[in-house]
Amino acid sequence: MEKIIINESPKLRGKIEISSSKNITLAILAGSILINNKITLINIPFIKDVTLMQSILLQLGAEITIDNTGLELINKVAIIDSSKIYHSVVDYDIVKKMRASIFTMGPLLTRFGICKISVPGGCAIGVRGINLHLDAMKSLGAEIDIVNGYIFAKASRLNGAKITFPINSVGATENAIMAACLAKGETLIENAAIEPEVCHLCYFLQKAGAKIEGAGTRNISIQGVDNLSTPLEYNLPPDRIEACSYAIAVAVTDGDVILTNCTEDDFLSSREVFFQIGIGFEKVKDGIRVFKRHDFQSIKITTAPYPGFETDLQAQLMIPLCIGSGISIITESIYDNRFMHVLELNRLGTDITVHGNVATINPVKYLSGANVMATDLRASFCLIIAGLISKNRTIIDRVYHIDRGYENVINKLKSCGANIERLL
Ligand code: EPU
Repeated sequence: MEKIIINESPKLRGKIEISSSKNITLAILAGSILINNKITLINIPFIKDVTLMQSILLQLGAEITIDNTGLELINKVAIIDSSKIYHSVVDYDIVKKMRASIFTMGPLLTRFGICKISVPGGCAIGVRGINLHLDAMKSLGAEIDIVNGYIFAKASRLNGAKITFPINSVGATENAIMAACLAKGETLIENAAIEPEVCHLCYFLQKAGAKIEGAGTRNISIQGVDNLSTPLEYNLPPDRIEACSYAIAVAVTDGDVILTNCTEDDFLSSREVFFQIGIGFEKVKDGIRVFKRHDFQSIKITTAPYPGFETDLQAQLMIPLCIGSGISIITESIYDNRFMHVLELNRLGTDITVHGNVATINPVKYLSGANVMATDLRASFCLIIAGLISKNRTIIDRVYHIDRGYENVINKLKSCGANIERLL
């Protein structure tokens, strides 16, 4: 089985290019189902989840042109022709590998009036329901049945309606927006998610001819149109979680790196936390310079929807706190099981205790390498960060998790001096 081997590394120095956002790319690929024409996506990241979403589109009948060698993309341009889509079934085989497959429900249902999509099963980071997605489709007039593990949704044409979300959900907001684009009349979404991922999906759909107002606010209104068929080109923006993950990795090694292809906006929801604990970032000519400002300080934080501190950075943030001063407390408010990395970190000598959704981090003098297992995407990057500062050798197993969302991670870190290899 493939493993990542990391030896204690020097201060990271150099440049790292940030790839395009995984979660924006996934939403936009789902959104492309709505468009009865060719679209061009620039800067598409070569990561497993994006490949899986592309295979869903291919199975539905879309044509996709991407030049790649199997190992890397030749250019980062994908041309997708969804006018060729002829059926609307998404099988268990693919949904079980990626929850974001559910994002195809809104677009398929609204474009074809019918779809059959496997219900996503369990998830390593907690119970992640799909009730909000289903309720949104029902509000728009869909009939929904769940039979043999599949969602059967139908409606001759969806009707615009008011959808009020009880909590902020990125995916359910995205599904509702996509469904409403081709519904009859106006849809008003209240308590919508305001993450940049939702905004970019809206900008993309607007370019295709969708009538959406209020992206980035809690109230989004959509005037349904008969079809979306304007061909378009969309530049996929940087991955803010990837940028912040590297900032943490650089800071814990006391390094100094320029992250290219990202902006200060990508640090918006982590800037306060980074400032308080001692991770520095500043705009420079080529991008964003990241470094350690001072010895890491303790913090008490709760993960929250945007613009609060991201759950997707919670695991990575633990590492500076483990080697800082004072006791830190992290409350995970989005997922109910996103502390799986703690047991692995404690194998490296950290002193973290978890009670329910609260982790208490007692700093230690040093970490020491061991065999550890990645439990999910963000946990795997957290273990890599830990490996960079652990004495001796850290061996990370189940590395397929990292391939889901961090493009070319080994080479990016190596180019800045990290002692990291992938063992095939
Ligand atoms: N929720 C429900 N019912 C639903 C939908 C969501 O109870 O029908 C709950 C979830 O269980 C969770 C909360 O609502 O407790 C928020 O989940 P949300 O729907 O916002 O998450 P998502 O859309 O499934 C996206 C990202 C996640 C990221 C979350 C929160 C994608 C593909 N995934 O998931 O990214 O953690 O938003 O920001 O966009 C990651 O990249 O590592 C990752 C997990």
